[in-house]
Amino acid sequence: MSTPPRGKLALPKLAEMKQRGEKIVMVTAYDAPGARFAEDAGIDVILVGDTAAMVVLGYDGTVPVTMNEMVFLTRTVVRAARRPIVIGDMPFGSYQVSDEAAVENAIRFFKEAGADAVKLEGAGPSLSRVRAIVGAGIPVMGHVGLTPQSATMLGGFKTQGKTAEAARRLVEDAVALEEAGCFSVVLEAVPAPVAAEVTRRLSVPTIGIGAGRDCDGQVLVYHDLLGLTEGHLPRFVKRYANLSREIRDALESYAEEVRSETFPEDQHAYEMPAEELEAFERTVASPSTSRPRAQATQRSSTPMDAALPAPRSEPPARKTSSP
Ligand code: KIV
Repeated sequence: MSTPPRGKLALPKLAEMKQRGEKIVMVTAYDAPGARFAEDAGIDVILVGDTAAMVVLGYDGTVPVTMNEMVFLTRTVVRAARRPIVIGDMPFGSYQVSDEAAVENAIRFFKEAGADAVKLEGAGPSLSRVRAIVGAGIPVMGHVGLTPQSATMLGGFKTQGKTAEAARRLVEDAVALEEAGCFSVVLEAVPAPVAAEVTRRLSVPTIGIGAGRDCDGQVLVYHDLLGLTEGHLPRFVKRYANLSREIRDALESYAEEVRSETFPEDQHAYEMPAEELEAFERTVASPSTSRPRAQATQRSSTPMDAALPAPRSEPPARKTSSP
């Protein structure tokens, strides 16, 4: 395993935080500005979530995002995040087939993208994937409860562990993930008392999303908490800003000012020395530069003459790909 760069929060610190009762703050991010904002806000862990499929790439679910896309996004986050631990979320299809494929793809996150760890969903068949990836020296975060990659099998984006039997299985799954080597487990959309029980049973930290306040840490999707996501939001999301309103207002103002010619103003334009401007104006006003183009190329007397196209009387025809 490689040595973490200077200033990076060391992975074992998360378990120490759990022991001290200090909450762990995790947020998703998908690009360099988001990572920088998270870093500056003192966020401990950044998850480059496969929610990128929905909040960045415009799909309806998380399944379509590919390994190449996730590696690309993770690399941009890693470039901007110094202290936070960066976790690459393994997309659907990157770990379901075999332990070998799971290890190969985890290595891509680790080596190509520079992630500090990976996350994958589920227990059951995922347990041997966790063991294989951890065995290859790559830390793994688990994820149980509502696992969006299997939302179809779960009957939709629904709260999990609501019956005594389902809650018992969820606790067992989380314990099995810790035993398989996970350094932390995400609990998504599970009743708060069930998440509290899992948190008591595990020695590694639990990170909740819709799992109540007793988890060792919390995670929210960047676009949800900043109010960039429009339309229905799960009950567990708290909006800390309404950036989509601000962005819409800003873009509308910009469009209005361009059309009304109130932007750009003098302060947004460049000037040139007065004598150079005068010389330039004399040059463009001289008859030699307003002659037809063909003639200018035949008889150019100065480099300036040769470089200046004749003034256009009509706008150029628009290039178009349609017939
Ligand atoms: O992909 C993601 O953003 C996640 C979080 C919701 C935990 O898995």
